[in-house]
Amino acid sequence: MFDSHPKVQVHIAQTNESYPCALDESLLKGMLRLGRKGIPVGCVNGGCGVCKVRILEGTTTLLGPVSRAHVTQEEQDMGYTLACRVAPGCVVRLEVVGKFEKPFSRGFGQSNPILT
Ligand code: FES
Repeated sequence: MFDSHPKVQVHIAQTNESYPCALDESLLKGMLRLGRKGIPVGCVNGGCGVCKVRILEGTTTLLGPVSRAHVTQEEQDMGYTLACRVAPGCVVRLEVVGKFEKPFSRGFGQSNPILT
């Protein structure tokens, strides 16, 4: 099926994976298309904080409110945000952080033992 939504590449620093993400979809939704274990999914509406990431390069646009309980102003200033609440504004490089960082990387290592 033809997909008319323009997409940009999102690169995950820890696992060296990349995925296409539309400019109007969340970083988390695009990440889920990788279809593997360890991707941090919770409430998908900015309330639980499990999808916390840090934007290392690139810009994002807000799709909805980000809970201050999970991303403080100081963290936001350092690039932290919630992957379910932002869309890429251009090519983005991010790292998964918080309590899901280890399961995320481990889920990747199991299917790619060379990268352990
Ligand atoms: S999945 Fe709950 S805050 Fe993103």
